Amino acid sequence: MLITPRAASIGATITQIDLHQPLSKNDFAGLLQALATHKVLCFPRQTIDAPELRDFSAHFGSLQTLRSGQDKSGFPEVSVLSNVRQEGKIIGIPDAGQNWHTDMTYNRSVGYANALLAFKVPMRDGQPLGATEFCDTSAAYDDLPHEIKQQLATATAMHDLNFYWEFMRREKASPRAPLSEAERAAYPPSRHSVFLKHPVSGKQSIYVNPSFTTHIEGMPKEQSDALLKQLFDHVLKPEYRYTHRWAVGDLLIWDHLTTWHNAIADYGPDEPRLIKRCQIMADKIFTPEFVTAALSPTS
Ligand SMILES: [Fe+2]
Repeated sequence: MLITPRAASIGATITQIDLHQPLSKNDFAGLLQALATHKVLCFPRQTIDAPELRDFSAHFGSLQTLRSGQDKSGFPEVSVLSNVRQEGKIIGIPDAGQNWHTDMTYNRSVGYANALLAFKVPMRDGQPLGATEFCDTSAAYDDLPHEIKQQLATATAMHDLNFYWEFMRREKASPRAPLSEAERAAYPPSRHSVFLKHPVSGKQSIYVNPSFTTHIEGMPKEQSDALLKQLFDHVLKPEYRYTHRWAVGDLLIWDHLTTWHNAIADYGPDEPRLIKRCQIMADKIFTPEFVTAALSPTS
């Protein structure tokens, strides 16, 4: 396995690994470290499908299962992000992720990593469309003024799925229906620390995001709004950004704990995009025994 980092703090390419085969302990240890260090890993030119994507992803944690947008090949842990229509119906989630966010912070148990595998990438004039943008929230934390690090060292913030859902309906003309009472009850707002310590690297990151974070607790709304705006403007600076332009066969895995991402919707309904996804939950990664065992050398 060869890890080739980009010059910036975010992004690396992984080659010389056969994902048709089970991951070896050494390769998994290397990938766990690489993900913590480089945050976004790309495995180009993969020929695997849903079962191998699921098996690869399951090394890192429990996988989310969704009731809708599943891969039709019978793997409830594999969902489809796509605008492709079959028999008049869109087969996947067409407008997923179209605003800066970290997945599942609205949930009590949050996401650790996303693993996405590209099957169809829209092209126009020879250029790929539908890129995914990232921000490095760990590098952004490092550069925060000392006073803000101090002020928010133990602060918590609330995150709410409905806040984002209504934003998508209002600002992005999303056709999604409002969340029902039952759905809102199933996803009550969740509390997380504003700064998060990474369980592998030990580094801190900024763990609030524009899509789901409604407010910092324990202060007036105006102060919370101003602090969140300051944090968001800081994370969005060009030096923390990376744009992944997809190619068919790319397997991309990224660390939710140290990044935001944003799906760019610059392609039309007749420009097919199809990506299969596994959402890896942050359960095992916050279990110290799991990390220690994964990183311990093979005897
Ligand atoms: Fe997302």
